[in-house]
Amino acid sequence: MSKRVLTTESGAPVADNQNSASAGVGGPLLIQDQHLLEKLARFNRERIPERVVHARGSGAYGHFEVTDDVTGFTHAAFLSEIGKRTEVFLRFSTVADSLGGADAVRDPRGFAVKFYTEEGNYDLVGNNTPVFFIKDPVKFPDFIHSQKRDPFTGRQEPDNVWDFWAHSPEATHQVTWLMGDRGIPASYRHMNGYGSHTYQWTNADGEAFFVKYHFKTNQGIRCLSTEQAQELAGKDPNSHQTDLLQAIERGVHPSWTLYVQIMPAAEAADYRFNPFDLTKVWPHADHPLRRVGRLVLDRNPDNVFAEVEQAAFSPNNFVPGIGPSPDKMLQGRLFAYADAHRYRLGVNHTQLPVNAPKAVPGGAQNYGRDGLMALNAQGRHARNYEPNSYDGPVETGRPLSAPLAVHGHTGTHEAPLHTKDDDFFQAGELYRLLSEEEKSRLIANIAGGLSQVSRDDVIEKNLAHFHAADPEYGERVAEAVRALRED
Ligand code: NDP
Ligand code: HEM
Repeated sequence: MSKRVLTTESGAPVADNQNSASAGVGGPLLIQDQHLLEKLARFNRERIPERVVHARGSGAYGHFEVTDDVTGFTHAAFLSEIGKRTEVFLRFSTVADSLGGADAVRDPRGFAVKFYTEEGNYDLVGNNTPVFFIKDPVKFPDFIHSQKRDPFTGRQEPDNVWDFWAHSPEATHQVTWLMGDRGIPASYRHMNGYGSHTYQWTNADGEAFFVKYHFKTNQGIRCLSTEQAQELAGKDPNSHQTDLLQAIERGVHPSWTLYVQIMPAAEAADYRFNPFDLTKVWPHADHPLRRVGRLVLDRNPDNVFAEVEQAAFSPNNFVPGIGPSPDKMLQGRLFAYADAHRYRLGVNHTQLPVNAPKAVPGGAQNYGRDGLMALNAQGRHARNYEPNSYDGPVETGRPLSAPLAVHGHTGTHEAPLHTKDDDFFQAGELYRLLSEEEKSRLIANIAGGLSQVSRDDVIEKNLAHFHAADPEYGERVAEAVRALRED
């Protein structure tokens, strides 16, 4: 069989891929060498901006299957019938490090699911933790700056990390979680995923519910100690990627069971704390987990750049029956992601196969046109304005989700305070549920970081937060920090 011919980008055959064209043997190179110029220029453009957070990640395809009836709470079509299957793409990630970092690090993990539903793509962009460090999006860029590399030293600095937390008491719950055993999952397969925010579901009768999503791993939770992680990060920086890729290649398909917690919308106003506060969970005793379905990953992407690096998940990609809650963090995220995609991938990123909606073959049906890399013919000959008299796509008149009630005046308000609302009580609940061994490791991990901080006032502020969560917790961290600093 004759070999396929190597071509230039325009499809012309390449005569020599080993020697550049030169003026005479050993002479300078020629600008007419199209193949050389094109090859070098194209290579220079191989990288696109990495994600500003969650840069390192791994992805896989699979499906979601409904196992339990939730039609009393949402009319989302992909959740409408037991046994119904929907294709998914899931991207896992670490948060703070850049593309060149390591997987086995103490950091939250991203858990972003794209459901290719018949009513459009639904993106649930969550983490492996049910809470977050802050509760207002205006703090997000400062928070991330404090956790990524310092502008002068070029390293992550304990001074910056703990200084931000010293000024953010609301971070105490998430910091307790992060510094505990689950702060370093053994792999992406061995951790839970959470929607974290409160979302809104609406049923066919227009009744609204608030909802929290929990994907529980069927592989069991497995974590690494700080020492195990440090060793593994050096030996195989891609340990999570290797694990996921190889498990799926071997036919060992990881799966998660999806549960939800549901709160009728009318209960939200009188709940004992703000149910839209991302630094808090809803205790299971108040809102038990209800099973919804099973998510299975069974196919690796063919090409990491095309499908994982170019994947675009946005919390504002909802489908009918699912919508946002007033959670301020979620509201901020509804803007941030699609904006990041326009910068990182361009305005036509939804035409890339991994992002393209499967609900509308041929691509989105709207009057958006043109722009860089308009790959499909976007409406072909059709009129590009609406309303029109030519059978173009029209609105449904049916809102995607129930309206949210609003009252009061505009302004930069603090989050509403409820009776038992403070920044510490759930951090204390988490501390108290740990075994003695888990508590000891948590204390050692916190002290290991906090003892490296150069300012006493920053240390004291952080200690006060742990003390407020649980006096024993605060005292043990203080003692461990003191011991390390006296060493
Ligand atoms: P429950 O006793 O009903 O639930 C405890 C939860 O803690 C379970 O979801 C369990 O997850 C999880 N958990 C167990 N060990 C750890 C750990 N080392 N690190 C992190 N999470 C762990 O209590 P409540 O619902 O009243 O919640 C009490 C505390 O549990 C909360 O303040 C919160 O910190 C934590 N938590 C609560 C969740 C919720 O949605 N209510 C979710 C996750 C954590 P698993 O079943 O997977 O072992
Ligand atoms: C990625 C912003 C909070 C989960 C990103 C990206 C941005 C961003 C800009 C990069 C997107 C891209 O380039 O594709 C923000 C802002 C937040 C916030 C402004 C707060 C206001 C959160 C929270 C969670 C989360 C609370 C989880 C509950 C993720 C995940 C990714 C991501 C999983 C990676 C998605 C992927 O795999 O492509 N975030 N984020 N973020 N964020 Fe956030």
